[in-house]
Amino acid sequence: MANQSISLLGRSALVTGGASGIGAATAGLLCELGAKVALADINADGLVNAQEIVGAFKTFIGDVSVEDEAEAIVADAANALGGLDVVVNAAGLVDEVKFAIERDIGPWQRIMDVNFRGTFQICRAAARIMVPQRRGSIVNIASVNGPGGWPRRTAYGPSKAAVIALTRELACEWGIHGVRVNAVGPGYITTPMVQGLVDEGKIDTNRLCDRTPIDRLGTPDEVARAIAFLVSDWASYITGETLFVDGGWMAYGGAGDVKTF
Ligand SMILES: NC(=O)c1ccc[n+]([C@@H]2O[C@H](COP(=O)([O-])OP(=O)(O)OC[C@H]3O[C@@H](n4cnc5c(N)ncnc54)[C@H](O)[C@@H]3O)[C@@H](O)[C@H]2O)c1
Repeated sequence: MANQSISLLGRSALVTGGASGIGAATAGLLCELGAKVALADINADGLVNAQEIVGAFKTFIGDVSVEDEAEAIVADAANALGGLDVVVNAAGLVDEVKFAIERDIGPWQRIMDVNFRGTFQICRAAARIMVPQRRGSIVNIASVNGPGGWPRRTAYGPSKAAVIALTRELACEWGIHGVRVNAVGPGYITTPMVQGLVDEGKIDTNRLCDRTPIDRLGTPDEVARAIAFLVSDWASYITGETLFVDGGWMAYGGAGDVKTF
């Protein structure tokens, strides 16, 4: 390969969920690698902060789960950037952490709408630009909770399983048009989303580390690097994949603490 390091020079990229966590870290890395980056998020204040920190070109406020807003995010970003080569779907919501029989359908549906429907709507709008130009790369964000099941996540887990399936479907449909679609599946990553769960006493990071072969939580930058690889030409023959960035979480099949099993 002539180019020995990953470069996104000349690429236009949209990152949803770009105001925080994995989305913001990814946007920062894509900028460093030479891309012109637009951020979209439902959190207007967060967008202002993130734009300053990551050096994004433009920001767009919108809710990815609302069809018109998703369409507008993609169209406005492509106009502002002068094209669209890369999309990262990092907008997402965590689960309520409630037993299934105690759940109300409204909050359940909201998680499905943001995590799954929102991802589909952004992908579809992006492909209406990428397919005719016969070039593009999309990365969706799944989770170890997509293939893996555990109690009290009956919206989040299924929404992420659906993202993995959607990624495969779209890759099969758009590969012939020069558009690649992949996903990353993070384990537990130190973002405001996870900090919120810690603060509410819904997860215990010591126990999570015990079950993780690499024995720590991941960082947003570590997920961003996998995303940057997948959107770049270094991954030119990879599509339909979900790359787990999880410190070995998916590999571990034992019970309890990986150090003492
Ligand atoms: N942090 C983890 O451990 C972890 C693990 C697996 C998967 N993920 C996934 O990674 C993605 C990013 O999560 P994060 O940890 O960076 O969380 P985060 O809360 O830091 O960031 C998520 C961003 O999405 C935005 N958002 C939420 N709903 C939206 C909507 N309807 N429209 C537009 N933007 C919206 C939020 O405002 C926020 O800025 C999510 O899809 C999450 O499910 C995270």
